[in-house]
Parts: sequence; structure tokens; C-alpha cells
Amino acid sequence: MEKIIFFTGAGISAESGLPTFRDSDGLWMGYDINEVATPDAWRKNRNLVQEFYNMRRRDALKAQPNQAHQLIARLEDKFRVTVITQNIDDLHERAGSTRVVHLHGEIFKMKSDRDGSTLYDIREDIPSGARAKDGGYLRPHVVWFGEAVPEMERALHLVQDADIFVVVGSSLQVYPAAGLAHSLSFGVRRFLIDRNPPPSAVDYGFEVIAKKATEGMADLVNLLEG
Ligand code: APR
Repeated sequence: MEKIIFFTGAGISAESGLPTFRDSDGLWMGYDINEVATPDAWRKNRNLVQEFYNMRRRDALKAQPNQAHQLIARLEDKFRVTVITQNIDDLHERAGSTRVVHLHGEIFKMKSDRDGSTLYDIREDIPSGARAKDGGYLRPHVVWFGEAVPEMERALHLVQDADIFVVVGSSLQVYPAAGLAHSLSFGVRRFLIDRNPPPSAVDYGFEVIAKKATEGMADLVNLLEG
């Protein structure tokens, strides 16, 4: 079976009602990254950071997978599909994808801010000041700016072994994750689906489908099965 990698960003969850980051109505238009998404922010104002992620967890809980998530899951019948996502929601899993790598963590998991090696499932708010067993504070299992991306090594190997590589709904602005799109082996067929494609897509030889994710994925499935 041909190996196909989907590299997804916030744009694939937009049609499920979840905000992106850098669109005009994106999260970073309303929040300062340095106040809610860095280790320093956590040290300075744990409650604000906790509430920012509690709000995103509540939104993710209410959201449903959309046709783009579902079409990716359905391609598992014909391809060895792996999803490498920057998203912290669980919409790929809920759509039926069985191999999902979360580069930036998962909103439905939490850990101690001391020893983060143990993960705990969490579906509701983490109360402010909640403590872990090791005496640390409980925080969302999300990769903040400036923190290591533990799954990067695994993602790189997956990408270098791909026959087809598809970017869906990412502005490709955040590294090291975005670097995956530039580390493809020569001759790998590559597509980019985005309603407002990043200009760099053409430089890296992507076949661009300038549509929203649900429509672009329908076109891609026709192309792949054609
Ligand atoms: N269909 C397809 N693409 C869409 C749609 C849609 N309905 N809506 C938005 N997009 C596209 C935008 O044009 C943009 O290129 O999705 C992309 C979203 O880009 P960002 O908001 O930057 O999200 P993302 O690339 O996932 O950000 C990467 O940045 O803040 C960090 O950790 C955060 O994982 C996130 C990372």
C-alpha cells in the first residue's frame, strides 16, 4: 500500500467551528501568545493560561469532525495513512483515523508541570491551582512556544518514508513542525489544501488546491482514486 502522510493544521478544524490562529478571527488576534502559550506565561499567570486552555477544551468537546477529517479516515481503506497534526483537538481520531501523531500535544490530556512524563485524561476544566501527585501544578499536555516538540523525530521519519504528502489547513509558519513540509524526499507527490494557500507552497513544488478543507479533500480523493 502506498504511504500517505496528512500534515494538518487549524484550518482543517475550522469547518467544525474551532478557531484558527492567524486568520482575521484567529486566536492570536484576541490573545497575546506570550500571555497564554509560553512556559513564562504559566509561571507568571497560571490561572489565565489554565482558563485559555479550559475554554479551548470546552470548544473541542462540543465540536464534531467534518467531512475533511472523515475523508482522511476513509482513505485508510486504500492507503497506509498517517496523520501528523499540529491540532490539539481529537477530531481526527473521532473521524476514525487510527494513526495520529500530535506534534503540539492534546487538549484532552494533562500532566504535572514538574514531571510531565505521566499523562492523565481530562474532559472537563482543570480547576485553577489543581495540584498533581508530585506536588506540581496540573497543566494541559500542550507544547508551548519555546518547548521541545517530542514527536518531531518520529514525524520526520514518517515524512521521509512517504509516497504522498498532503498539507491541509496550515499556514506553515511554526517551526520545527512546518519544516516537515520542506523535508520531503525528491519525487514525493505533494499537495496543499488551503482556502488561502501560503505563498511558500508553490516554491516547494506543491500541487495547490485553493479551497476550504472539505471541498479540497473531496477533490483530492477524486484525484487519488481517479
Ligand atoms: N479550509 C482550509 N484551510 C483553512 C480554512 C478552511 N476552512 N480556514 C483557514 N484555513 C487555513 C488558513 O488559510 C491558514 O493557512 O488554515 C491555515 C491556518 O493557519 P494557522 O492559523 O497559522 O494555524 P496552524 O498552521 O495550525 O498553526 C500552527 O501555531 O500557534 C501555533 O501551536 C499552534 O499548532 C498551532 C501552530
